[in-house]
Amino acid sequence: MSSSAQSRGFSTRAVWSGQDPCAATGATIVPVYQTATYTLSEIGVHKGFDYSRTTNPTRKALERQLADLENGAYGSAFGSGMAAVNGAVSLLAQGDHLLATRDIYGGTHRLFTQVLSRYGIEVTFVDTSDLAAVRAATRPNTRVLWLETPSNPTLRLCDIAALVREKPAGVVVAVDNTFASPFLQQPLDWGADIVVHSTTKYICGHSDVVGGVVISNDPAIAERVAFNQNCVGAIPGPWDAYLTLRGAKTLALRMRAHVSNAQAVAEFLESRDDVERVYYPGLASHPQHELARRQMRGAGGIVSFRPRGGVARAHALATATSVFTLAVSLGGVESLICSPARMTHGSLTSAERAGLDVSDDLLRLSVGIEDTGDLLADLAQALDATASVGTSEERQKQPAWAI
Ligand SMILES: Cc1ncc(COP(=O)(O)O)c(C=O)c1O
Repeated sequence: MSSSAQSRGFSTRAVWSGQDPCAATGATIVPVYQTATYTLSEIGVHKGFDYSRTTNPTRKALERQLADLENGAYGSAFGSGMAAVNGAVSLLAQGDHLLATRDIYGGTHRLFTQVLSRYGIEVTFVDTSDLAAVRAATRPNTRVLWLETPSNPTLRLCDIAALVREKPAGVVVAVDNTFASPFLQQPLDWGADIVVHSTTKYICGHSDVVGGVVISNDPAIAERVAFNQNCVGAIPGPWDAYLTLRGAKTLALRMRAHVSNAQAVAEFLESRDDVERVYYPGLASHPQHELARRQMRGAGGIVSFRPRGGVARAHALATATSVFTLAVSLGGVESLICSPARMTHGSLTSAERAGLDVSDDLLRLSVGIEDTGDLLADLAQALDATASVGTSEERQKQPAWAI
């Protein structure tokens, strides 16, 4: 990209980065190149594309766009966020140690503990908001420090720049930036080596595509990730790449609406006597509010909370809302409510969840871009309608299912 293009603002880059007019037709909008293969002019001579598992023009446009939005040079798109996480940890080899944020997405925890560990990779989890704990947990064979900030679902933060300063040479710092999106936080600027997204969430933004991406500035890392992308073949198809590219063009507009609605929802919940605790980095009561202000450009669109009345009240609330819809996932324009213990983090044992503060009465809201008043009215009516349900004694273990 030219230096003038690099100085452009976020939304200009979202709309234009990687999206040159089609060389053959002049089409302004990147076409959906629905092709598996490409015609060669002679053996070994092609126009940069020979097979769509390796690369595809629509996917390539998405990779360039997303890399640029993270201030990165290289991007590899995957068929899901989990495939992207797996692509990033393909840097690891048998005997390496992976040190990861304790309270991460349940699927990432499952990959690390139930898949990587079977390939001879040692995995430990640590509270990455505690620098001394990270220092103590780092081993001579630690190769990747895996961070998720804000974390899912309790919205704890870790100080990326401080962790980068502390880490021994040779340790690769990877950040799952799904919850923040590049509009709110750009980990490469804080010194991280790799950024990973579930593009299913804010980047695509419309809950109609599952995808992921790995971004970096290091050619050796990028080459390894692209090698995995091609070898394993967990790639997005051209339509999914196109829809994600289209969604990302409006990321800034959507994130502004998500953040202002989430702030209003968090303040509303905190004002209620029948809510025990609200987790949102934009609240002054959040233990890392100052870090959020320093590291992020907004506190994000996810709010978690525990209503008074225990599990029975929480479960009643999850179906008492009408705008907030009971569903997993997050980051779409629509507001969703879920029970992390029973849904997104169901693959963890109850002891593991207890260690992460993922209690059975915790509810997670993905606050959408609907009208603020409608969201607050929906939560108010649901809280009022369930006022007599449950007691705090009813907090008990529930059978969990995994997604
Ligand atoms: C923080 C985070 N990372 C990764 C993933 C996995 O993404 P996907 O569902 O697209 O595979 C999720 C999914 O919820 C997530 O919340």
